[in-house]
Amino acid sequence: MWGGRFAAGPSAIMREINASIPFDKALWRQDIAASKAHVAMLARQAIVSGEDAAAIAAGLDTIAAEYAADGVPEDWDLEDIHMTTESRLAMLIGPAAGRLHTARSRNDQVATDFRLWVREACEQVDAGLAALQVALVTRAGEHADSIMPGFTHLQTAQPVTLGHHLMAYYEMARRDRSRFADARTRMNQCPLGAAALAGTGFPIDRAMTATALGFDGPTANSLDSVSDRDFAIDYLMAAAQCSLHLSRLAEEFIIWASQPFGFVTLPDSLSTGSSIMPQKKNPDAAELVRGHSGRIAGCLVSLMMTMKGLPLAYSKDMQDDKPPVFEAASLLGLSIAAMTGMVAEATFRTLRMRAAAELGYATATDLADWLVRQAGIPFREAHHITGAAVKLAESRGVALDALPLADLTAIDARIDERVYAALSVEASVAARASHGGTAPVEVRKRVAEARVALGLNEGPPA
Ligand code: ARG
Repeated sequence: MWGGRFAAGPSAIMREINASIPFDKALWRQDIAASKAHVAMLARQAIVSGEDAAAIAAGLDTIAAEYAADGVPEDWDLEDIHMTTESRLAMLIGPAAGRLHTARSRNDQVATDFRLWVREACEQVDAGLAALQVALVTRAGEHADSIMPGFTHLQTAQPVTLGHHLMAYYEMARRDRSRFADARTRMNQCPLGAAALAGTGFPIDRAMTATALGFDGPTANSLDSVSDRDFAIDYLMAAAQCSLHLSRLAEEFIIWASQPFGFVTLPDSLSTGSSIMPQKKNPDAAELVRGHSGRIAGCLVSLMMTMKGLPLAYSKDMQDDKPPVFEAASLLGLSIAAMTGMVAEATFRTLRMRAAAELGYATATDLADWLVRQAGIPFREAHHITGAAVKLAESRGVALDALPLADLTAIDARIDERVYAALSVEASVAARASHGGTAPVEVRKRVAEARVALGLNEGPPA
């Protein structure tokens, strides 16, 4: 396609290092769509004849059917999906095929194809995350009252509800969806027509191709159009952030499924056995989600390193933009699906969770709060008194509410028998009814709002 000025063909090494067809064949649908939009515009603008344009469009349809049926052929001599398709078009329709590349370069072509691909990837992630959110709110609704220990430093801190814990991940998924939506909005400008770097002398209509391909409009600067990969980096940033959330959720399941915790029984469908230890049921899917997050972050770093320091406009380094995006998209899609299944199908062992919440003096803050509220003691002093009570209970190996009243009044005379009502884990979670708190009544509100946001329930009349 470019051999005119060369006396000798490329070496085997050149062919191999140059070929992007092994991976950019994934762009074939976008490449055909963009070419069809381009040729329709060329015809409308009388840059190619209606007859040639019709032959080109029909040839592209034939090629699409061939690719769909048999896959894209991988000939390194043809370098990439753009030249593979154009050379096949020439075989099918003859010299008219050569008119397709008028007023276009592979630089704006690949920028357009790749944007279309990444735009669709954003939509796929959004659908996946919506399904994850449905699983989370469903299980959270079931477990708005299920009490478990809440942790800080992975040390028992205060009792929370399982519904509240799951809804924390709903919030993360909500932010992730907004990041992908934001990236999608920002990338939705069409670089086609920027040509090699400087625009074109042909009277093209960039608004027409932009509209045909579902973009909001054409990009404003031809140099930027062919050198910009922000859209791919935006996608990878959102993907990396999302994968961190999935990794944290996976880690919770791994910890909860361990025998000393025993908070959850993982679905058989997302676990594996051991080839030597018959009793084992391993959380491999969750561990791989945790592992994949590292690879996805690596994909982000990979593309950032490819782009850093490149002068305007296109450089061949940029051919390396696709593998990390493709890899991240496939890892992320799998990770979201795995965690959705895990959340939807796990069996939560609520009795174990509740028993664990009773341990570790999780209601010590409630004793301090009670001293503040009922006895008017400043919080810092209440904290100190409570510390003494915990120390005593610990030395006897009993829970706080198992200390006789005489022992509590010996620590501070202002304590009376009403304190016991505040020391149960139920009272503790019910008390935390501040907006966004763990009280079952609050969790139910958040679940109800989330169900409306997800279209699972109708909202209140406006
Ligand atoms: N295969 C190339 C890529 O993926 C297409 C663009 C080639 N442009 C060029 N000027 N050599 O980036």
